[in-house]
Amino acid sequence: MGLKWWQKVTVYQIYPRSFKDSNGDGIGDLQGIISKLDYLQELGIGAIWLSPVYQSPMDDNGYDISDYEAISELFGDMQDMDELIREAKKRGIAIIMDLVVNHTSDEHPWFIEARSNPESSKRDYYIWRDQPNELESIFSGSAWEYDEEAKQYYLHFFSRKQPDLNWENTNLRKEIYQMMNRWVDKGIAGFRMDVIDMIGKEPDHYIVNNGPKLHEYIQEMHREVLEGRDVMTVGETWGASIEDGIKYSDSARQELSMVFQFEQVGLQHEPGKSKWYYIKDVDVPAMKEIFKKWQTQLKNGWNSLFWNNHDLPRILSIWGNTKEYREKSAKALAILLHLMKGTPYVYQGEELGMINYPFQSLDQIEDIESLNFAKEALSEGKTMEWVMDAIRLIGRDNARTPMQWDDGPMGGFTEAPKAWLPVHPNYRSVNVKAALENRLSIFYTYQKLIQLRKEQDWLVYADFELLDTEEKVIAYRRNTIDASYLIVMNWSDNLSSFTLPIDDVDEVISNTDVEQVIQTKTLRPWDAFCVKLKS
Ligand code: GLC
Ligand code: CA
Repeated sequence: MGLKWWQKVTVYQIYPRSFKDSNGDGIGDLQGIISKLDYLQELGIGAIWLSPVYQSPMDDNGYDISDYEAISELFGDMQDMDELIREAKKRGIAIIMDLVVNHTSDEHPWFIEARSNPESSKRDYYIWRDQPNELESIFSGSAWEYDEEAKQYYLHFFSRKQPDLNWENTNLRKEIYQMMNRWVDKGIAGFRMDVIDMIGKEPDHYIVNNGPKLHEYIQEMHREVLEGRDVMTVGETWGASIEDGIKYSDSARQELSMVFQFEQVGLQHEPGKSKWYYIKDVDVPAMKEIFKKWQTQLKNGWNSLFWNNHDLPRILSIWGNTKEYREKSAKALAILLHLMKGTPYVYQGEELGMINYPFQSLDQIEDIESLNFAKEALSEGKTMEWVMDAIRLIGRDNARTPMQWDDGPMGGFTEAPKAWLPVHPNYRSVNVKAALENRLSIFYTYQKLIQLRKEQDWLVYADFELLDTEEKVIAYRRNTIDASYLIVMNWSDNLSSFTLPIDDVDEVISNTDVEQVIQTKTLRPWDAFCVKLKS
C-alpha cells in the first residue's frame, strides 16, 4: 500500500457546541470554528473531525439527527458549512464529518412517517416488535419503547429519541450511501462513523456489536461511496478485538482506513461492570500489553491513536496528574502516544492540558447519559455522593466544557454571561493565549509532535518493539533498516530507574533533561522523551 495522506496527519476533534461562540448565545458554532482556523493551522493539524452539526432536536447534542443534509440553526447554515470546508482547505486542513447512521432522531421525517403509517415504505427503516425483550439501552433502562401511534415497540440503543435504523432494509442503505456521496461531492475528506459496529445488530438474538452482516454492509458502503475517492474513514468500534481491527482496516478488505478501538479505555473501569464503576489507578503493565498487541499485530491494518474524545473524561484527570505535574504529565502522555504507529487524534483543549470540571450537583449536568445514569442509580439506592463522584470522574460533560481561549470573561469562549456548560475555573491560567506566549507550554509539545508526524516517515513505517522495563516505565523502540528510535515515559509521581542502551543519542523531543537521565540512570516523575540511537 502506498503512503496515504491520512497516515501523515494529526486529526483534531472539534465538539462544536464548546469550541467557540461567534454570536453571543453561549453555544459554539461554525463561524466560531472558522474564526479559529488560523490557530489550528499554527498547531499544525491536517484534518478536523467535526462532531455533528446537522439539524437535530439535540437530545444527545446532535448525535440525534433529524436531517442529514441540513445544518442545525444553533451552529449556522449550509453556507457556513461550505465556508468552513473552503477556509479549512486553504489552510491545508481537511474536514471529516461525523456519520451517525446507526440511528436517527425520532424527529427525522423517516421516523415520523414510519410510526404513523404501518404501510409506509419507511416503517421497515426502523426496528419494531410487538413485544420487547430484555435488551438494555446504553443510556440506561430498556432498549425498547412502546409507541402509542405505531402500537408497537421500537428499538433504541441510546435515548428514546434515537430510534435504531434497520440496516437489513436495502432502500435505507441506498439512501444513506447517496447522502454520503453528496457530502463527499461537497468537498469533505471523510467520515468518523458513530458506533458503526452496531449496524449489523440482531436484536432477537441479543447480538448488538459485530453482527454477522456487519462487514458485508461496510464493504457495500465502500463500493457505493468510498471506492476511488481519496477519503479517510474511522469507525467507532467499542468492542473491537485485534481480529476485528484487522477486518475493518486491512486495506485489501476494502472497508475503513482505521477504527477507534477502546481496549485501553477499558482499563478505566472494573471488568464486566458499567463505566461508572471506575478504577482510579492506571494498570501500567496491562497498558503496555495492549499497546504491544495493537502496535504489532494489526498486520496490514492501521491504528488510530487517542487519549480523549467527547465521551471520555479528560485524560489528565483519570491517568495523569492534575496538580503539581499537570503540564509535565500532559506532555509525557502526548510523547508516549504520538510516536507510535497510527494516526493521532487530539481532542480540543487537550493541547492546553484541560482537565475535568469540579461538578457540584446534577443541575450543572447536561449530558443525557449522565442524567439517566443518575436517575437509575439513585432509584437503586445509591447515594448522591456516589453518583456525583462517578460523574465527576467519568461523566461526558467533563470533556464538553467550553474551550479556554484567554483569561477574559468566560475564557474568551462567548460574549454571553453564561455558556451552555460552565467554563472551568482554571481558565485564567489554562488558556490558548497563555499557552501561545509560553515556549515551554504543552501546546508547543503538541505542535512539535504534529510537525514530526508530517516530516518523519519512520513514524509511519518503523516496527514497534516493546522493551522490558520497571513496572511504571513504558519504553519502546521504533526500528527501521537504518535507524532506531527509543521512546520512554515514567508513568508515575515517583522516581524510576532506567538505563539507556547507549549513551550516544540525538534528542528528538522531550519534557526533561535527557543528559541527566543518561547520567543518573533515573527518570524523574513524568519524564518522557524520544531519542535517536546512534550506533
Ligand atoms: C457515540 C458518540 C456518543 C453518542 C453515541 C450515540 O458513542 O460518540 O457521543 O452519544 O454514539 O450516537
Ligand atoms: Ca453561537
